[in-house]
Amino acid sequence: MQHRDGFTSSIGVTLATLGSAVGLGNIWKFPYMTGMNGGASFLLVYILCTFLVGLPVMISEILIGRHVKANAITCYKSLSPKGQPWFLIGVAGVVSAFLIMAFYTEVAGWVFAYIFKSIGLLFVGNGKVDGGAMFTTLVSDPVQSLFWQWFVLIFVGGIIMLGVSKGIEGTVKRLMPILFVLLIIIGVRSMTLPGASKGLEFLFTPDFSKIDFTVVLMAMGLAFFKLSIGMGTMTTYGSYYRDDQNVPLTTLRVMLADLTVSMLAGIAVFPAVFAFGFEPGAGPSLLFITIPSVFDSMPMGGVFQVLFFVLTAVAATGAMLSLLEVPVAFAIESMGWSRAKGTVVTVVLLGLFGAPAALSSSLTADVTFFGLNFFDLYDFLSSNVLMPAGGLCICLFAGWIWGKAAIRKAMSNHGALNTDAISSMFTMLVRFVTPVLILVVLLKGLKIF
Ligand code: PHE
Repeated sequence: MQHRDGFTSSIGVTLATLGSAVGLGNIWKFPYMTGMNGGASFLLVYILCTFLVGLPVMISEILIGRHVKANAITCYKSLSPKGQPWFLIGVAGVVSAFLIMAFYTEVAGWVFAYIFKSIGLLFVGNGKVDGGAMFTTLVSDPVQSLFWQWFVLIFVGGIIMLGVSKGIEGTVKRLMPILFVLLIIIGVRSMTLPGASKGLEFLFTPDFSKIDFTVVLMAMGLAFFKLSIGMGTMTTYGSYYRDDQNVPLTTLRVMLADLTVSMLAGIAVFPAVFAFGFEPGAGPSLLFITIPSVFDSMPMGGVFQVLFFVLTAVAATGAMLSLLEVPVAFAIESMGWSRAKGTVVTVVLLGLFGAPAALSSSLTADVTFFGLNFFDLYDFLSSNVLMPAGGLCICLFAGWIWGKAAIRKAMSNHGALNTDAISSMFTMLVRFVTPVLILVVLLKGLKIF
């Protein structure tokens, strides 16, 4: 058995887990999905999903990972009874990671493009930034779209190939507090814009008539995407956890911190959306058309804008490192390839597979499957099908195969913590409540029933 690197301090564990969770999901996806699905009522359903589905899946993954101390496929394989294919959870995770990377790199590409455009505007701008026009020009130009996606792929691939991700992750973690503060500053500016109160109303006054199973499926998918669960990333992270780490407490902290970042992003975006008369349901472009207007209305806004997109790029890079590592590690461990070969092959495949997503506002705009273009299809398949299905299997596996006694032992750190009450409740959740919830939402949301 090889010696495995592990996290060395309790706070380090929390920050590293947070490093995978926080990313474009908070800053870009959370606001636009909340905007598209009715605002406050969606937010409420999302929070419910995070508690009833997200936390149980996350705790299961981390406990299992820490117990076996191996990659996701090996974890489920080694705990499953002979002949049962639970390792497929890990295989499905590799597919999910691949699908997510294929569109995530495109959005990260927009962020990088905005850094350079914002810097340019510092020098030649007449003070006016038209976020909408800037976004349309970017995504409707196939050359720019592809260029930025490949730029990101090569950038992240380079980090993974050099094996320096750990060092970079350290930097990511250190810069995150600055992003946090910046989001608060933007939020304050946004909230004090004339007409901003409508945005807060949208975000905090629920209208339950807007909820149906499709909306619930979206909220649940976002919970999976946000916490990086249902696909093996957290199982792998769990394998680096210390044996004396309080797992339920750590996951709760990570979840609350992650939710706080999303809420700050929502508070930065929605008041501005209403103050400037944008469309809350604009979709994936929402952040990119709204935020420049907020900066436009701020003293030194141009400088803040550069800083904002740099920090968003940093957060996205942290999340992408944890994503890309999934298929690369798979290639290395199961094909026996070198790290360099694994990375190059994965990045090239992602470039080919991601290209139609990058071009989905230009050349491939008319190619749709079930009414979804490539970009939306990859997103939908990963967040709304594969990750929930993975989460369902992980709960059933933890509750019924690994079992009550093993959970109790693992959660209490072999008796060191008094977690009996939590572990009984948790076992009930992963055996019955969470799997049934996921299944009903999947079947109803996908209109299978
Ligand atoms: N949680 C990340 C985000 O919100 C995305 C992610 C999903 C990362 C799955 C790793 C695994 O941006």
